[in-house]
Amino acid sequence: MLKVKNLNSGYGKLHVLYDVSLECEKGEIISVIGPNGAGKTTLLNSIFGIANIYSGSITIDGKETTRLPAYVISRMGVAYVLQMLNVFAQLTVEENLRISAAYSKVKDINKATEKIYEIFPILRERKKQLVGTLSGGERQMLAISIGLIRNPKILLLDEPTAGLMPLYVKMIANKIKEIRDMRGISIILVEQNVQKALELANKVYVLVSGQIIFKGSPSELKEKHEIMKLYLGVGE
Ligand SMILES: Nc1ncnc2c1ncn2[C@@H]1O[C@H](COP(=O)(O)OP(=O)(O)O)[C@@H](O)[C@H]1O
Ligand SMILES: [Mg+2]
Repeated sequence: MLKVKNLNSGYGKLHVLYDVSLECEKGEIISVIGPNGAGKTTLLNSIFGIANIYSGSITIDGKETTRLPAYVISRMGVAYVLQMLNVFAQLTVEENLRISAAYSKVKDINKATEKIYEIFPILRERKKQLVGTLSGGERQMLAISIGLIRNPKILLLDEPTAGLMPLYVKMIANKIKEIRDMRGISIILVEQNVQKALELANKVYVLVSGQIIFKGSPSELKEKHEIMKLYLGVGE
């Protein structure tokens, strides 16, 4: 589905990612974890065509997307849920959803919106409410829904649980799993919540200073006490 090979990328002269390779199959959740500033967001930006790629390649379903503009990558079925500024605060919940659906040429917008409300019933209750009045957790659910309503093959999520209350962290984590299982979408999940990332992921990548220092299953990573402690701040 998604293949990143020996990617070197950054912003202008700021080289951020070094020889990053990563693969995500259909219906899989890949978690990317690592310290602040490691380049996690830059990896998503690179996949979505909004960072400078110096070398390496990115393919989606075997088609090369390296250096294609974001709108083309989006049309190929990639939805990117940014960490911040991912909703229109001055519009209602339903308006946010309908705009996203319309923009991505979803045929039956009512049906698509209804499907979202089935996954996130709380958004149905809030549908006439201005997004600026929602709680952080509700906003994040809406942000994910805005991506989801476009029916993506690949969903890029940048720290969807950051700064949320434990109740919402749990709820959103469950929904992410549900979305994967229900729709068979591939999800690249960038997380600072190591516990959640390990709980959700089929495969984990640890990114430190722009390089992948670990790739494997969550249980394999848990055995790597040094990495867990040194880079992820978990364990004694
Ligand atoms: N849009 C940008 N323009 C220029 N530099 C950026 C931009 N976004 C991030 N950076 C820089 O790239 C490096 C990696 O940042 P980032 O990918 O955001 O890390 P993470 O998401 O792991 O915290 C940092 O040095 C950061 O300052
Ligand atoms: Mg980031």
